[in-house]
Amino acid sequence: SLMAIQLKTDDDLSRMRTAGQLTRSVLDMIGPHVKPGVTTGELDEICHDYIVNTLEAVPAPLNYRGFPKSICTSVNHVVCHGIPGGKRLKNGDIVNIDITVIKDGFHGDASRMYLVGKPPILAQRLVETAKECLELGISVVRPGAHLGDIGSIIQNYAESKGFSVVREYCGHGIGRGFHEDPQVLHYGTYGEGIEIVPGMTFTIEPMVNAGKAQTRLLSDGWTVVTKDHSLSAQWEHTLAVTSTGVEVLTGVA
Ligand code: MF3
Ligand code: CO
Ligand code: CO
Repeated sequence: SLMAIQLKTDDDLSRMRTAGQLTRSVLDMIGPHVKPGVTTGELDEICHDYIVNTLEAVPAPLNYRGFPKSICTSVNHVVCHGIPGGKRLKNGDIVNIDITVIKDGFHGDASRMYLVGKPPILAQRLVETAKECLELGISVVRPGAHLGDIGSIIQNYAESKGFSVVREYCGHGIGRGFHEDPQVLHYGTYGEGIEIVPGMTFTIEPMVNAGKAQTRLLSDGWTVVTKDHSLSAQWEHTLAVTSTGVEVLTGVA
């Protein structure tokens, strides 16, 4: 298929910055609510209300290709796209909360892992490693680099820790569209893939598994789990490529 990367103007970038910071504020707001006993459905309701009424923004997942809720909540062996519902969080769980908001026509997309009580040391290591994978991926983004540089550094680091990287889902261009070109793979080879240029905006969102990389889609059509039921962790930021490097639009302003 023909790749059509929408390079952003300074005016677009200013709106993307706003959308990114609103997205970040949801992840900050929900943190204290992620505790043993809360349901993922309750977390969804709190986020939905905050996005709509406080931020006066739109929760992008709601009705996106039929997705029924406003956020994604992916617990333990759920890799991504978990649907909020009656599941009650318990001590030792790890959960990814993925927030995408639309403000003034532009999307911000970010996710974090939250620890419920005190998870086992393996779960803590997995969560930290996935976060480091995202940070390493961001560190190589600059004009003249290639998308394969991102995938390569993430894959090498995750595998050096004895973990694996999910292949079936990837980062993506983002802007007026939720999922734009290009695809941003979290595995690959240094120097391969398209060249990174100023004005690109895309996410990096590595999914790292404690066991094997393979995934399975549940019959709800959304929930992605590890095939071997091993734990999985993911972190995501939305980035803009500047003339000299990178700006993390969903990062500390
Ligand atoms: N936020 C996810 C991403 O990072 C996409 C979720 S699609 C949904 O790309 F429909 F499940 F919300
Ligand atoms: Co994304
Ligand atoms: Co996301």
